[in-house]
This record gives sequence, structure tokens and C-alpha cells, in this order.
Amino acid sequence: MDVISVIRTKRDRGELSPEQIDWVIDAYTRGEVADEQMSALAMAILLNGMNRTEIARWTAAMIASGERMDFSALSRPTADKHSTGGVGDKITLPLAPLVAACGAAVPQLSGRGLGHTGGTLDKLESIPGWRALLSNAEMLHVLESTGAVICAAGDGLAPADKKLYALRDVTGTVEAIPLIASSIMSKKIAEGTGSLVLDVKVGSGAFMKTVEDARELASTMVGLGNDHGVLTVALLTDMATPMGLTAGNALEVRESVEVLAGGGPADVVELTLALAREMLDAAGLRDADPAKALADGSAMDVWRRMVAAQGGDPDAALPVAREQHVITAPSSGVLTRLDAYGVGVAAWRLGAGRARKEDPVQAGAGIELHAKPGDRVTAGQPLLTLHTDTPEKLPYAQEALESTYDIAPPGTPYEPTPVVLERIA
Ligand code: URA
Repeated sequence: MDVISVIRTKRDRGELSPEQIDWVIDAYTRGEVADEQMSALAMAILLNGMNRTEIARWTAAMIASGERMDFSALSRPTADKHSTGGVGDKITLPLAPLVAACGAAVPQLSGRGLGHTGGTLDKLESIPGWRALLSNAEMLHVLESTGAVICAAGDGLAPADKKLYALRDVTGTVEAIPLIASSIMSKKIAEGTGSLVLDVKVGSGAFMKTVEDARELASTMVGLGNDHGVLTVALLTDMATPMGLTAGNALEVRESVEVLAGGGPADVVELTLALAREMLDAAGLRDADPAKALADGSAMDVWRRMVAAQGGDPDAALPVAREQHVITAPSSGVLTRLDAYGVGVAAWRLGAGRARKEDPVQAGAGIELHAKPGDRVTAGQPLLTLHTDTPEKLPYAQEALESTYDIAPPGTPYEPTPVVLERIA
């Protein structure tokens, strides 16, 4: 087999054979296929697509590139969630302990943010002492003892994806539906969860900008999961506007703790409960009541034990950025748009995100929203507070926010977008 013939097949809109797929993934993982060759193939896939048979084989080859975990010895059914990423998407933080408090085991292997989207591990690392890197044995121990664990995926899980995702990130080939679906599902299937709920984000702040693309991604992933024996369902959810009232690391931890304490913004609570119900259903725990577990403090108990089991101090003060800058409403009226992408880029420029994988993030940086679409605002009232340790970056963040919101005259009717747009099973 030679890589040039594989690239030419896809360049010329052909179908890759199972042998070509198995070979190219294996040879790339071993370093026999060079990065420039794999990036040519990724670009050919982005431009010409793959059919369902090719995607299934590509996913199986990525799973076979590494180890598979096994949670079958656990006393509870496993349930996992994956979000395709967005702005202010802190849902994993309250969701994992909540679902664990209702009787499931939640092994939540999570990632770091890149670009304008935040990463769960970066958020949790703002808790003093908290560790994202656990050995497989430590991960199992935290899962057994608390019911939930949120940690980094080990190097042994789908190593082909680790290499390919890093390459796609720097070659403009992230946004290919076959590559996104196989990347996400290879890790989730290799992780060994029994059931999986996918939160596929739609809108300016998401990878998928249209409902049609999100639907195609969701149904591809649902098919891959179910074919591998993982009961998989997907919710398409709105990412035209940021989730909740914060985007940034420690800011989002604070908001998540508010949700676990029975408060928090309505959209965060609604999505957390919708995903919890799907996860509990998929795990066969249909009688569990997640709203009760939020209200009676049992989800908060699991959160505190989970944070402590990973070295974190759940009572420690969260870091606060050195500088705050308030942006006020220029006129009175109804806020009709607050764009997730603009807020995400601004939070990133303030230091909440990183430009390259090895860059550090600022724990306290980010943006607080003082109004959401549909709210009435008065000229001069705070609209956004920008938080940063690097005030020299403020002008760049302000530039990203310039055409991020619209205020319509008082009395303008506003039709809210539902949090959950569609369910795909
Ligand atoms: N998240 C992943 O894990 N992989 C992708 O390709 C995109 C988002």
C-alpha cells in the first residue's frame, strides 16, 4: 500500500477501501505516513466527504490504534456526555455529579479549550489543587468512590485521533463532518461507556453553524455509537448566544457551583436537566429525579467529593482577574442579539483561552454577561464585564465585541430560541 494512491483516491472523489483506511491510520500512528501527507488526505476528505461505510471503518481503525477501557466491573451503569463545544458551555461541571447523584457512574474524559471555545479541564484547573491527569487506576478509583470523574483522556486512548486532531487544528481541516464524528466517537467508544448523550451545538459559537450540518453530524455519531453497542442519543442545542452568564474558567466554575446549589441561570439549569434526563434514561435509571438531586444538595455532595478526590479544595476561593472593565449599553431597549462567537473570541483574547496548545490560560479571565437576549436594558447600565490579568489585551477584546450585540427600540417583540432544538436517536 502507498499513501499517494490513498490520497489520490479521495482527491478524485473515490471511495476508500477498508484496507486503505486500516493501513493509512496505522501507518500514520506509527509515523510511517508524514504529517504533510495526512494533511493532504484530511483536506481531500473535507472537500469530498466520506460515506457512512468509510466513516465506520475510519472510526474502527482509530479505536484499534490504542487501548480500550472496561467499566463492566462497576456496580452502576455508565453514562457519558459529549458536547461538540461552545462558549460558556460549563454543563459538564454540574451534570457529571448530578447524574452520579442519581445512581449512574459518569466517566467524563474531557479536553482543553482551543480557539474561541472553552475546555472543561481548563475550567476545573482554576480550583486550587485540582488535577486533570489521572492514571487509569486513579480514574477508576475516583469513579468507584464518588460516582463521577472528570479527567484528561490518557495517551493510550485512540492515539491516532490525538495525532490527527492536532494536525487538523493547524491545517484548516477541523470542520469536516466525517472527521469530527470519527474523532469524537472513537474516543467515546474506546473509553468503554455503556451509553452516551451527545450535545451537538448549533450556531455562531459552535463548529456547526446550521441545523442541517448539526443534524448530519449528530445522526452520523448516533449511528456509529449504536453500531458499536453504545446506546447513543443526541440533542441539538442552541449556541447562537453564550450559555449562561459567564465565559471563562473560574467564572464558569462559580456559575456551575451556583447551579449545584439550586440556583444559576435558567438556560444552564434547563440544559443540565435535559441532558441528565437523557443520560439517566439511556443508563436505564428512568425513575431518578435529577431536579430533586439539585434541590436537595445530593448533587453538590458528589461535586465536593469528586473535586476533593482529584486534589482540589471545594471550599477554596476561586482566582479573580487583576483588572475588570465594564461595557455599558449604548441605548435603552430590548437586547435582541448577543453573539456567542464574538463573546468567545473576546474571552479568548482576554486570556481565558490559548492560541497554541502549549500556552497557559488565565484562571480569572473571561466575560460576565449582565443581560441576555430578550432582556430590557437601559442606556448606561452594565452589559458586559471583561476580566483579565493582561489589560493591554482589552482593546483587542473590545474590538471582537464591537458588532456582537443588537439593542432594538423599547417594546420590540422578541421570540426566544429554545435551548434544545431537536432530539436525534
Ligand atoms: N472534538 C473532537 O474531539 N474532535 C473533533 O474533531 C472536533 C471536536
